[in-house]
Amino acid sequence: MLLLKELLMSTMNIKSMRKNKKGLLLCIISACLLQGHIAISQKTSKTPIMGWMSWNLCRENVNEKIIKDIADALVATGLKKAGYTLISIDDGWVGGRDMQNNLIANPEKFPNGMKALAEYVHSKGLKLGIYSSASQTTCLDLTGSYGFEQQDANRFADWGIDYLKYDWCGNVPENNPEELRIRNEAMSKAIANTKAPFAFAFWGGFSPEYWVRSLGNNWRIAYDIRDVWKSYHPQRKGILQAYEACIQLDKLAGPYGFNDPDMLVVGLYGTGKAGSAEGHTGGCTDIEYQTQMSLWCLMASPLFLSADIAKLNQTSLNILKNKEMISINQDTLCRQARRIIETNMYDVLIKPLADGDYALGLLNKSDDIIDVSLPFNSIGLIGDFMVKDVWRQRNSTSHLKSWKGEVMAHETVVLRLSKPVNRKKQSTVR
Ligand code: GLA
Repeated sequence: MLLLKELLMSTMNIKSMRKNKKGLLLCIISACLLQGHIAISQKTSKTPIMGWMSWNLCRENVNEKIIKDIADALVATGLKKAGYTLISIDDGWVGGRDMQNNLIANPEKFPNGMKALAEYVHSKGLKLGIYSSASQTTCLDLTGSYGFEQQDANRFADWGIDYLKYDWCGNVPENNPEELRIRNEAMSKAIANTKAPFAFAFWGGFSPEYWVRSLGNNWRIAYDIRDVWKSYHPQRKGILQAYEACIQLDKLAGPYGFNDPDMLVVGLYGTGKAGSAEGHTGGCTDIEYQTQMSLWCLMASPLFLSADIAKLNQTSLNILKNKEMISINQDTLCRQARRIIETNMYDVLIKPLADGDYALGLLNKSDDIIDVSLPFNSIGLIGDFMVKDVWRQRNSTSHLKSWKGEVMAHETVVLRLSKPVNRKKQSTVR
């Protein structure tokens, strides 16, 4: 029932629907229908999932040793404590099927099998995720789950897997949203049937429809990210392009379901086997990495690290472990930031937070420094606010009605705006 209330509230955020009773009735009906759907999926995580994913760093070369090392490093670096608790093995792990058609892990890469690996990862207080595809084959042309959904879900549950990334690769009908829904729903149901509490992530298409919310915890909304600001490859995204695809989908995100613009490339510096491919060898600047963290937190997107954890430098660790950024990402209102201002040079984003505060993002998309002067009432925030600059760790000493400052090329300034305590309820944005 709590879930229904939360979904209802998130549906009711659609401004136009607030205005008339017919809209409100539609909201209630759609939330109830959704509640019917909810039975088929595992709602394991109310806020965006945080962890590490093998694809960008390893490509097909993922193996047992790498996963164990990542588990150890997540603990040693304090990233586990910061909230990054899931390790997701991407494409490249599967070794085909046995005589009973059960999936088997590639014995050379995973000599002790997945069950033992899950036990190791769990012993560190972490969770283990795995990868499959809604077709006969994965993107690497390895065995997929189409037609074997229940058998494979049972197998994953038996191994103690906590998360499935379900891809749309191999022999899949492109541009067929109905088939996409049917195949994803089949796996979502299969997972629910196992009664094991594992989360489901899937390919939602380029303009996902509302049904994605009922199937799983997060859905990819764009092509693969690369360790660059902008990608010139037609089927790859840089940070700015993945953000652009995601920011437009703010109404889809809410408790238990989030838009996924792909992994964080923070700290890769051009070292990824997939993440830095296609000539994108230099990687990004620290300012760009900080911007990616800012935007993904503001957009309530899953936070999947993808660099080699043990090799992260202090700057990357500071970006990834920033407590206030993470609390904006994990905020229990679960709203994705809305773009309030869009110009060629910069965007302004607002994410309302559960305690009545607002997280404000000022993204400089241009290659030059810009001076910003932003009266808060110009973006619907009426009154005065205590202002905290989250990255610079600077608090205003009095209540402010505006913010003025420089934003570096490709930088995102993140401000947390608090109303005086007894006036928090007067919020005007959504
Ligand atoms: C697709 C996905 C990637 C990765 C690869 C694996 O490209 O988008 O994230 O999982 O497949 O082959």
